[in-house]
Amino acid sequence: MRKIIVGMAIVFAIFGGIMAFLERPERTDVVVIGAGASGISAAIEARQAGLSVVLLEKMPRIGGNSQRATGGMNAVNSAVQENDGLGDSENLYLADTLAAGHFQNDRVLAKLLVEKSGEAIDWLIGLGADLTDLGRLAGHRVDRTHRPSGGAPVGSEVIRVLGEQLVQLGIHLRVENKVIQLLYEDNRVTGVLVRNEEGREYEIMADAVVIASGGFGGSPERFVFYNPDLKGFKTTNHAGATGDYIDLVADLPIELIDMEKIQAHPTVEPHFGILITEAIRGNGGILINVEGNRFTDEMAFRDILSEEMRQQPQGGNFLIFDESIRNGLSAADAYIDMHLVKEAESIDEMAQVLGIDSAILTRTIERYNGFVAGGSDEDYQRMDLPVQLTAPFYAILVQPGVHYCMGGLPINENAQVLDRDGVPIQGLFACGEATGGIHGNNRLGGNSMTDSIVFGRIAGQSVAGVKK
Ligand code: FUM
Repeated sequence: MRKIIVGMAIVFAIFGGIMAFLERPERTDVVVIGAGASGISAAIEARQAGLSVVLLEKMPRIGGNSQRATGGMNAVNSAVQENDGLGDSENLYLADTLAAGHFQNDRVLAKLLVEKSGEAIDWLIGLGADLTDLGRLAGHRVDRTHRPSGGAPVGSEVIRVLGEQLVQLGIHLRVENKVIQLLYEDNRVTGVLVRNEEGREYEIMADAVVIASGGFGGSPERFVFYNPDLKGFKTTNHAGATGDYIDLVADLPIELIDMEKIQAHPTVEPHFGILITEAIRGNGGILINVEGNRFTDEMAFRDILSEEMRQQPQGGNFLIFDESIRNGLSAADAYIDMHLVKEAESIDEMAQVLGIDSAILTRTIERYNGFVAGGSDEDYQRMDLPVQLTAPFYAILVQPGVHYCMGGLPINENAQVLDRDGVPIQGLFACGEATGGIHGNNRLGGNSMTDSIVFGRIAGQSVAGVKK
């Protein structure tokens, strides 16, 4: 009898041991939350430094808002821009970034963004990205916005090559796995609690957690909470941009910064919330109000321009461009395919299509073309006047829409998240739109992708303790 009892005890002990082993939380060196451009860049760097990485994405596919990025990625001294004689410099790029941010940027981070921008482009090109076309978005004094040849959207190209790296490096990606809690004890982050696609919750213990979950521009509830002026605004963001980091750090000693600073992009198609890239204006497009008049420097900073657009009669405006602009920017074809664009063979026909007085539209376009010919915009001092507008013409109805959150988690130059006293929280890193401070009051167009790649890479390198 005694033997049977001892035998059973051994069996139970072994069984219990096996169960405990099976239920043991998973362990990895690094968990990255969010598989947009910043999260994937962090995961790649950490993996290349020899760490085990689990990349968690709550949506069914990778890409986040980065996948939607269109106009380009800014950089100075990339292999593409270096020898083009444009006269760009780190100082000039930094000055444009700070001016756009109304000098409220974290200067250390903004300087780092600029300094590492060129190598970020070279890194992506080394991974196989086509970023050889140089253009200009609003607020820049030179062409430094890199995009695929033919002016194709930048985001899908960047996510394409980053996604390939995930596969090549064997990075452990789990989509439809949402992090619902940071594990935090003894003043350090020790892992995450995750809910998988079947609703099962499980823990992953990690030496480091990188938050790269994006901003909250996809949540009207949240952006109106932080900035009530944005009530009723459409958004360019994907549905997953719901500011998950806000909930994740709610019980940690962290003060989020600049949360009310939310950028409205001036040109968003108002019915579907589709971003109409600034590159159309950069390549020569103009803005008119519903009366047919120009009313601004189309390349002014986004916050200024968005406010001016809201002041126009009936709050609606048209973006006008022509065939040469369309030909230089294949992104424009997508808007035509989506039936967002009105086309006309002459100014008279365009006036009729838009319900505008033909004489006013003729005067507006001829006057603007005269400024291009003379090299000086006497009405609004637009600096860059690339082309005269000639038939056939295209027009898209546009209004400002929520686009980007300048606020978020406070970080230092190693992408470590800081507590209320400015001290790094052990084990916690962040990058991309979940962070705040870099862009000040207003982000310069094309700096989002730069931020994501530069600080994503820094986060991955810091996690690995690698200083490059
Ligand atoms: O207009 C755009 O293509 C947007 C670019 C950006 O937000 O960086």
